[in-house]
Amino acid sequence: MKFFLCLLFLCWGLSYCFSTKNLKLDTKWESWKTTYSKNYSEKEESFRRLVWEKNLKFINDHNRLYKEGKKTYFLGMNAFGDMTIKETGSMLNIPLPPVRIRRNTKLKKATYSGLPKRVDWRKHGFRNPVRNQWGCASCWAFSAVGAVEGQLFRKTGKLVELSKQMLIDCDRQQSCRGGFVTGAFKYMKNKGIVSEECYPYKAKKNKSCLNETNCPVTKIKKHVFLPSGKEQALMHAVATVGPVSVTVHAIKSFFYYRGGLYSETKCKKRQINHSLLVVGYGYEKKDENKKYWILKNSWGANWGKKGYMHFQKDYNNQCGIANYAFYPVL
Ligand SMILES: *[C@@H]1O[C@H](CO)[C@@H](O)[C@H](O)[C@H]1NC(C)=O
Ligand SMILES: *[C@@H]1O[C@H](CO)[C@@H](O)[C@H](O)[C@H]1NC(C)=O
Ligand SMILES: *[C@@H]1O[C@H](CO)[C@@H](O)[C@H](O)[C@H]1NC(C)=O
Ligand SMILES: *[C@@H]1O[C@H](CO)[C@@H](O)[C@H](O)[C@H]1NC(C)=O
Repeated sequence: MKFFLCLLFLCWGLSYCFSTKNLKLDTKWESWKTTYSKNYSEKEESFRRLVWEKNLKFINDHNRLYKEGKKTYFLGMNAFGDMTIKETGSMLNIPLPPVRIRRNTKLKKATYSGLPKRVDWRKHGFRNPVRNQWGCASCWAFSAVGAVEGQLFRKTGKLVELSKQMLIDCDRQQSCRGGFVTGAFKYMKNKGIVSEECYPYKAKKNKSCLNETNCPVTKIKKHVFLPSGKEQALMHAVATVGPVSVTVHAIKSFFYYRGGLYSETKCKKRQINHSLLVVGYGYEKKDENKKYWILKNSWGANWGKKGYMHFQKDYNNQCGIANYAFYPVL
């Protein structure tokens, strides 16, 4: 058995064969399991423990560099702790974006000047809570719906949380196995969307769609697709229109982000796989050249800065942030 496991885990380094779990981490492991209500079978527990230790090491190694001033952001253990990168990837992955989506060409030629150096829609009252998509690849729904909530807030001054579940259940082309924000916008244009309260999130697709409720329906007129790779255009939209839906390439360091300025050279611009909402931008107090986007994620409030991330801005379109940026028009 052990020999077999050794072969299985060889790619992890040989640690498993010679030293199994690190007993010093027992208390930490138990408390992590309690925090995230984990209850494994005995067999699974030893596997999960090793994955967790490996992830903890990844986090600690990174944070050591942060303390030495070699990284601008730090990581923290969270709900992803017992998952391999393959698992987090397949759990949250979105398929490739559709090719035939028309960008707004006028915006490409526009010049963007006189924009404020800081914008934070949360400070204007756009404070819908951060939610958790759980094990459903529905970031596309959270991102698109978030942008509509932003426009609804700007138009009516009201904070209404809109339904993600309706998009998951009612749109035949999208599900918990993934989708893309454009599909969500299309649905909200054709059929509209009800409130979260009316059609709450279940993190699972239910094919019987409840599209005939008595709840008020919000429809959008269209969605605008910003020019590719232009952070200036994104900045302009965030400042003048409101929260914008974006998609980035989220790699391991992204999953464990806890705070600081997220600056990552390993992510790719063309492998985008996670959608979020830009709710503003700003810069570091100590260094005005270190600018960031304020991203709202859908991985719960225990992830990142209470559910948000400071993601380096004007840093050569980091992780492809400006490649697929959309805002809805109500
Ligand atoms: C864990 O699961 C087992 C079997 O399903 C169950 O008997 C046990 O009560 C559970 N423990 C906790 C702490 O939930
Ligand atoms: C994105 O892709 C990377 C591999 O390039 C993978 O490790 C990661 O888990 C994926 N992220 C999401 C959110 O699916
Ligand atoms: C799906 O939705 C229908 C209608 O609301 C409900 O009766 C059914 O229990 C749901 N199924 C699941 C698996 O949640
Ligand atoms: C609700 O969904 C059904 C099946 O997809 C469709 O036939 C019907 O037209 C929809 N109703 C509304 C009000 O969108």
